[in-house]
Amino acid sequence: AFVITQPCIGNKDASCVDVCPVDCIHPQPGEPGYEDAEHLYINPNECISCGACEPACPVTAIFEEAAVPVEWRGFLKKNQDFFVGD
Ligand code: F3S
Repeated sequence: AFVITQPCIGNKDASCVDVCPVDCIHPQPGEPGYEDAEHLYINPNECISCGACEPACPVTAIFEEAAVPVEWRGFLKKNQDFFVGD
């Protein structure tokens, strides 16, 4: 799965949402929790790892799981935890 990390905070550009073929990026405008979310989240259980979102992000916030920079590894769990109970 792909993961959204630190640079999304303060940006939430949402270009990634437009290109995701399975709509696995949440929350986005119109979805519950959007106002409270400091960044957008990729649901690892829905992501098909197509990679379409990665080049779409203007601030390089999205990485394939294994390629997440060491200092941002915590975002793997943060994205996962956001969907616990889904
Ligand atoms: Fe965030 Fe980049 Fe998407 S800033 S909302 S991960 S396009």
